[in-house]
Amino acid sequence: MSSYFVGITGASGHLYAQTLVRALVAAGHEVHICLTPAGAMVMQHEIGLHPGPKGNFLGRVIEAWIGPEAQGKVFAHPSENVGAKPASGTANLAATILCPCSMGTMARVAVGFSSNLVERAADVALKEGRTLLCMPRETPLSVIHLENMLTLARMGAVILPCMPGLYHKPESVQELVDHLVGKALDRLGVAHGLGKRWQGLGQEPTEAGIEPPASGPLESDPLESDPSDSNQAGSNQKKER
Ligand SMILES: Cc1cc2nc3c(=O)[nH]c(=O)nc-3n(C[C@H](O)[C@H](O)[C@H](O)COP(=O)(O)O)c2cc1C
Repeated sequence: MSSYFVGITGASGHLYAQTLVRALVAAGHEVHICLTPAGAMVMQHEIGLHPGPKGNFLGRVIEAWIGPEAQGKVFAHPSENVGAKPASGTANLAATILCPCSMGTMARVAVGFSSNLVERAADVALKEGRTLLCMPRETPLSVIHLENMLTLARMGAVILPCMPGLYHKPESVQELVDHLVGKALDRLGVAHGLGKRWQGLGQEPTEAGIEPPASGPLESDPLESDPSDSNQAGSNQKKER
């Protein structure tokens, strides 16, 4: 069992976070979660849950959001609590994931402006050389947004935008979300049963439930990556099984 931190911000796409946290729990991991005040507004708007002003009552809605499996596995922290466990490098988290990541949080993390627990946890991941997976959501992207992503990628963060593909022909929003979250879990090296794996044009994608290879990097997705890509971002990623 490993511990993960999921920072949930005020970007759209809280279904990605819900799917991610559920999958981490299903894989047997402990998950620390934290919602920014803007994230609390978006959660109420998109999911219909009320995590309280500033998201400080997130703990009260965990079971409604994640399910009974969350008991004893998912721990909510107020964003003001920069003294919580994920604020220290000694917590030895397997990875910190910003999902979905707003442009505001992205900008503050890129300059080391740790004004809340989400930003501090990201800062810690960078300073400790641990996996920081950012899942930004915005469109179109300004030069500032692009520069901040590049800055973080150069520092070793993995930038995995909430930019879902359609080539697996999703029949529901959940299938679309599963495919993207499955790619995030692949990048983390976490076994999962989300989405289907591409087998080549004209071939049926394999069913969900495929585990990532035991060692070494996963083959890149031919539809989503440039073979000339040196893949230097995320070079500090930790594989765990
Ligand atoms: C319903 C709603 C959807 C939003 N969607 C996005 C988005 O997709 N991306 C983004 O960068 N900001 C989005 N915002 C704006 C952010 O919430 C806002 O910039 C906020 O200050 C971010 O704060 P945070 O980074 O501390 O969470 C949205 C706001 C609301 C209310």
